[in-house]
Order: sequence, then structure tokens, then C-alpha cells
Amino acid sequence: QSLLINPDAQPDLPTVQAATAAATAVGLNLDDIQGDLLRAKLAADILPLITTTNQLLAVATQPITALNIAFSQTGLTALNVTDSLGDSFFSKGQLADAKNLGTTNWVPEFTRTGIHGVILFASDSDDNINNAVASLEAAMGDSITKVYSLSAASRPAPNAGHEHFGFLDGISNPAIIGFTGTPMPGQSNISAGSILVGETGDSGSRPAWAKDGSFLVFRQLKQLVPEFNKFLTDNPIVMNGLTPQQGSDLLGARMVGRWKSGAPVDLAPIFDDPVLGADPTRNNDFTFQHPDAVLSTNQTRCPFSAHIRKTRPRADLGTPEETTHHIMRAGIPYGPEVSGAEASSNTTSTERGLAFVSYQSNIGNGFRFLQQTWADNANFVHSGVGVDPIIGALAGAQRVVTGLDPTNSTKKTTLTTDFVVSRGGEYFFSPSLSAIASKLSV
Ligand code: HEM
Repeated sequence: QSLLINPDAQPDLPTVQAATAAATAVGLNLDDIQGDLLRAKLAADILPLITTTNQLLAVATQPITALNIAFSQTGLTALNVTDSLGDSFFSKGQLADAKNLGTTNWVPEFTRTGIHGVILFASDSDDNINNAVASLEAAMGDSITKVYSLSAASRPAPNAGHEHFGFLDGISNPAIIGFTGTPMPGQSNISAGSILVGETGDSGSRPAWAKDGSFLVFRQLKQLVPEFNKFLTDNPIVMNGLTPQQGSDLLGARMVGRWKSGAPVDLAPIFDDPVLGADPTRNNDFTFQHPDAVLSTNQTRCPFSAHIRKTRPRADLGTPEETTHHIMRAGIPYGPEVSGAEASSNTTSTERGLAFVSYQSNIGNGFRFLQQTWADNANFVHSGVGVDPIIGALAGAQRVVTGLDPTNSTKKTTLTTDFVVSRGGEYFFSPSLSAIASKLSV
């Protein structure tokens, strides 16, 4: 779970997520203020609150509330920081990218260009977060305006750590060469420069002060949970020995590539194996390739379209695994549990979903590549396999998936509902502490 980064760098959110139950993202606007005012406040009021990785790793020194700040391109410009960070998606902002990411349902605040930054608060209770937000707002005074906030929290037991469709999340994140101790079996092993700007493996052209920062992609992804559940109930996989409920559970597992417990279908193809799902030494230890080669391609194990096979094809692209297209995920669910009325009507009435956060040193190689070149592409990793049934083709095109039925791998399933709906977001840059102390402050 831990990305051990330069102590100078800001903390990795996976650590925050693991240690905490609640988080809030607050969008900032610097429009009517002088950049100088915020610059002074950054050094005096925000810098001391930013949590270092070292603090987070040692429970004794963990702050009650962890804080992390990141800026959009318009925010850096408002601070008079005009160096190019060498990432065209970042410099144009996520709204300019909207036609590729689903435009119709955006939260109004994300459709304006006035989000200059984001402050992420993470703690183990809503009260702590509310207190931290209130005291920071008091300290910052007029230097910032809150334009939007989203509260997110780990789901209540027994679903802690599971996203709203019910699947255990946060299992597979990359290990960083030279920073992570011994990687878990099956964990990807990538250069620090894939995640942190200016480290080995980052080929971008960056100003010196940007070193050890990271691009933060924020996406508010609404999930239609009762509708997803109805789809599973209506389309159980029919196989000898499976009850309709087991057939529905198998369909859901094959859409994700893992059972709700986290067990990968590549290793547990017909029934869930919760012991496997909970074992970090085994639950990531697979490549989609098998000694019996037919199992690598006939989709009786994992569909080519499954969410985790689309977003990390492992040995499908050859061995050793490619190391360019990886992200560090730190999302957390938002919104309430499904109510009885929503479950019985199969209809969402209150918004819930995933506050998606990913870190990468290059947005085009990271989030965007996974979303557009892989998940939305019906011909990846082979012609005709269809889109990712969880996040594929969010832009509203007809979603057709194959490989979901293990008894007939070419059968096409048309998904008439988008179970995940983009509500928009923004591209940010999360600077190192020394960048905040020097370049971004007075
Ligand atoms: C893994 C759910 C959006 C990329 C997973 C897993 C689940 C999941 C349950 C398996 C747990 C794990 O391996 O850690 C969701 C849901 C989403 C969503 C419900 C939307 C609401 C996205 C997006 C991307 C993404 C937008 C990137 C474009 C990944 C990656 C993995 C993953 C890279 C790990 C694959 C691996 O290393 O094997 N997701 N996800 N996810 N997801 Fe998502």
C-alpha cells in the first residue's frame, strides 16, 4: 500500500486512504484575490499542515487530519507561476478533454474554469475533517474561496474497503523501484519516474522545482448501484451447477475481473474464494497467462474486457510487463449506502460513487491512456473484445462487451445502462513540500 517517496514530497494518498475513514476534497478559486496573498498564506498556514509520508507511516506521529494541496494550471497561473510543467493535458485542464471523457453530466463547478486548486483532507471522522476545514478557512480568510466540496468515506462494515458495487478495492497498486520494500507477488514494479515528476524514468521536460511532484487526476464517478445489481440479476450466467444467484455473482465478478472478496477470476474462475481474496501474497499473483495456453485466451478464466484486464493487461502485452502505463490509485467512495426504496425500485435516487484519484508523472500515459486507449477501446487487447463493462466508453457510445459468458466467448452483450457516469473533474499538480516552500510561496 505504501509509496515511499522522498521525505520532501507530499504523502501518497493510498497511505492516507488506508489509515482513514473520511475525506473531503475542496475546490479553490483564487479569482478575485492577488496571487501574493495566497502565496503568503501557503507558507504560513498551509505548509505546516501538510503531512509528510514519514509522519503517516509512523502511527505515533500521524496527525489527526492529513492534508494535501494541489493546483490546476489556472491556479498556477493565478499564482504567477508560468513555467510549463510539460504536460499538455494538465495545461489545458480536464474540461478541454471532456469530449473524450463524457460531457453531459458534469457537476456545474467543473464546467467552469475557476477551480484553481484542491485541498484533500483525510481523517478517521467527519468531525475531525469539519474542524480542520473550518480552521483552515478561518486562517485563509479571503485568500481562497471554496467553490465545491465532496465528502467521501470508507463504507460501513462489513463493506469497509469495498467500492459501491461491492468489490474490494485498493488491492493492486504499483510497487516503486527503490522506494517500496519487497513487492508483493504479482505487483507491478515501476520506476519512481512513472509516478513522480523528475525522478528516474520520467522523460518529460520539467522545471527543477517540479521534481517529486505528481499529477493528480480527480474524477467524480457516479455509480448506479441498484441498476448494476438489476443487470446482474436479469442476466445470470447459466452453467451446470450454478444457482441463478451464483450465475449473477459470476457475471459481476467477470465484469470486474475479481470477486467481491478481491479474489481474481483468473485464479478462482467459477466460485468466489474469500481466503484467496484476503491474502495479499496470493490475490495479485497472476498474469492472465497459464501453462495450459488455451486458458490464456479462451476467456474461461478472465474476460479480455474485464475491468482489471483492460486497465492492466499484465502479460497479455508480453513479458516482462510494460511499465509505462501505470497509475497510483487513491480513490474513496462517496455518497450513502443504497436505501431499501432504491433497492426495491432498482433505481438510484441519491448520488453515490467513487471519488477517483490517481497519481502519475504524465497524464497522457497514465489515467488518460488507461481510460481512452484501453478501457474505451473495443479492440484492445484483441479485436472485438469490447469495452470495459465498468468504465468503458463513458463518452456515451453504445457499449458492447464480449467474453462475459464463459460458455460462449464471442457472445456480445450490449450494456444499455452506463453503470458509471462521469460527473467531471479536474487535472491538478501536487507539488513537493520544498516547491511549496520556495517556488509557490513568497
Ligand atoms: C482496479 C473498481 C474506475 C483503473 C479496480 C478494482 C475494482 C475497481 C473493484 C479491483 C481492485 C484492485 O485491483 O485494486 C472501479 C470502479 C470504478 C473504477 C467501481 C468507477 C466507479 C477506474 C478508472 C480507472 C481505473 C477511471 C482508470 C482509468 C484501475 C486499475 C486497477 C483497478 C489500474 C488495478 C488493475 C490491476 O493492477 O490489476 N477498479 N474502478 N479504475 N482500476 Fe478501477
